[in-house]
Amino acid sequence: MNSKGLKDSKTVHASKVSRSLKVPKVTLIAAIDENGVLGKDNQLIWHLPEDLKRFKRLTTGHSIIMGRKTFESLPKALPNRHNIVVTRNQNYSKEEVTVCHSLEAAIEFTKDDDQPFIIGGGEIYKQAIGLADVIELTKIHSKFEGDVFFPKIDSKKWTVEKEERMSHPNFEYSFFTYIKK
Ligand SMILES: NC(=O)c1ccc[n+]([C@@H]2O[C@H](COP(=O)([O-])OP(=O)(O)OC[C@H]3O[C@@H](n4cnc5c(N)ncnc54)[C@H](OP(=O)(O)O)[C@@H]3O)[C@@H](O)[C@H]2O)c1
Repeated sequence: MNSKGLKDSKTVHASKVSRSLKVPKVTLIAAIDENGVLGKDNQLIWHLPEDLKRFKRLTTGHSIIMGRKTFESLPKALPNRHNIVVTRNQNYSKEEVTVCHSLEAAIEFTKDDDQPFIIGGGEIYKQAIGLADVIELTKIHSKFEGDVFFPKIDSKKWTVEKEERMSHPNFEYSFFTYIKK
């Protein structure tokens, strides 16, 4: 195991050398409905395989930072990624996970990664949006009932770099890439 929690130490070491020349792009990645709903009862609401594939493709090989509640909504740590969980509980510990006690400490931990991802949930996105450089957002063009929301994206601070419209049997959705102005 190397410092990124990945097994193939040769590959990661080589990529770390080239990555260290770039400025890291702290990236929020989320899927929301038309009202910014993220989830309900500590679960995701929709099942969107294309979005899960995109999430896996973008985050594999990188660090993923998440709140303790999001981590506990997953069956286990996500493979081939360095899982970092943020909690205020000083006694928290889980297998295959790095525990940090602030968002800033978690981001500091990823400084050798050219694109660390912040994967939720609502509480963490709210604190992280001011620290992020990129937002990879899936917007579902439908409305759901939920209890956790993504923060408002201020159009004075963010610009859409890419947009791709997709369809699903039950609803349309779009992949957006926002970059900080
Ligand atoms: N649609 C999506 O893309 C998406 C993505 C991720 C999650 N979700 C959904 O979002 C929901 C979970 O979000 P949530 O807002 O309830 O919880 P969360 O953001 O996942 O986790 C909140 C927890 O993180 C810890 N925390 C937050 N800020 C901290 C700080 N500054 N320093 C240290 N620890 C801190 C605290 O843990 P302790 O209480 O242990 O101290 C807090 O209770 C679920 O429904 C999940 O399915 C949706």
